[in-house]
Amino acid sequence: MAGKKRKKTLRTVHVNAGAGYDILIEPGILSYAGEHAARVCPKASKAAVVCDRNVFFPHAEPVEGDLWDAGLSCVQLLLEPGEEHKNIETYSEILAFLAEKRLTRDDVVVALGGGVTGDMAGFAAATYLRGIPYIQIPTTLLAMVDSSVGGKTAIDLPAGKNLAGAFCQPALVLCDPYVLKTLPERTFLDGCAEVLKYGALYSREFFDSLTDPESVKKDVARVIETCVTMKRDVVEQDEFDRGERKKLNLGHTAGHAIERCSAYRVTHGSAVAAGMAIMARAAAKKGYMPEEEARALEEKLKAFRLPADTEFTAAELAKAAMSDKKASQRTIDLIVPRRIGSCEIVRIDIADLQDWIETGLTW
Ligand code: GLY
Repeated sequence: MAGKKRKKTLRTVHVNAGAGYDILIEPGILSYAGEHAARVCPKASKAAVVCDRNVFFPHAEPVEGDLWDAGLSCVQLLLEPGEEHKNIETYSEILAFLAEKRLTRDDVVVALGGGVTGDMAGFAAATYLRGIPYIQIPTTLLAMVDSSVGGKTAIDLPAGKNLAGAFCQPALVLCDPYVLKTLPERTFLDGCAEVLKYGALYSREFFDSLTDPESVKKDVARVIETCVTMKRDVVEQDEFDRGERKKLNLGHTAGHAIERCSAYRVTHGSAVAAGMAIMARAAAKKGYMPEEEARALEEKLKAFRLPADTEFTAAELAKAAMSDKKASQRTIDLIVPRRIGSCEIVRIDIADLQDWIETGLTW
């Protein structure tokens, strides 16, 4: 690696799920992607880089350059950005690409982009040849702290988000905080919604340490490490989403409904922010959470310039949520905050969902 000056700022979080893998967080790590890929996939001769068109410039070049340097021949597929492309057609396009480029089970898929790219490339890797290794290189804060970790891969179906997918852990996750400097501010704030979610779920101290977007920016590597450590602990306990892991869906039932009702105009992080506020108000009004705690969550979202409400009615949101994959038969598991840093899974009758949302829409 002559000519590349290395800083000693590497943070490593090991995840004991699947075959076990590391999440490596380091400014500039994109330029060492090949070295790391060759280490975790020693038999690979090809790397298929599946990349969001928006990310291609400027992030693909250092990644692909280092893959070539590490002896991997690189093939590249560019995807259209956006949730509206997270569908069966794009999934099929990725599979056809992997087959056309003759990737084998020893080779590796590199998912370079935000959550949509990671979910789709991961699902293609999980199913092509009944599964080949893949590496997540998330380029948004949201993907770094949430979707790239834990092995949930999926595409959307017309009936709802993430309705077809597989649990398949990556071989490695590389998070480069430098990349976040190139993000549009709104995309960064969207990621902050998932960061705040971890505080609301598991740590009052972490929640309190995040005062505004600048507080995340100035210590972003530590923030990513803290979030993925919390997520790691959950995934190790409940890889297949039967219990504790469901809590990571705080704000997601209403949030996914908001995304659907807006035809994905409202982005995931913003929808989750509004969804968390809805759940907090409902929890307070139904006696699960002190009102001042719910108001503290609402105020925090506002400090991060994230939405705490929505234009859609409870009836519209409940209808959209019914086709969510988490609605099984007559009941749905809601993640209900008890206080900042602690939430509970509450199983409700599906018929009561509209009432919960209605209760939480406003004070
Ligand atoms: N994004 C929630 C989970 O990974 O379970």
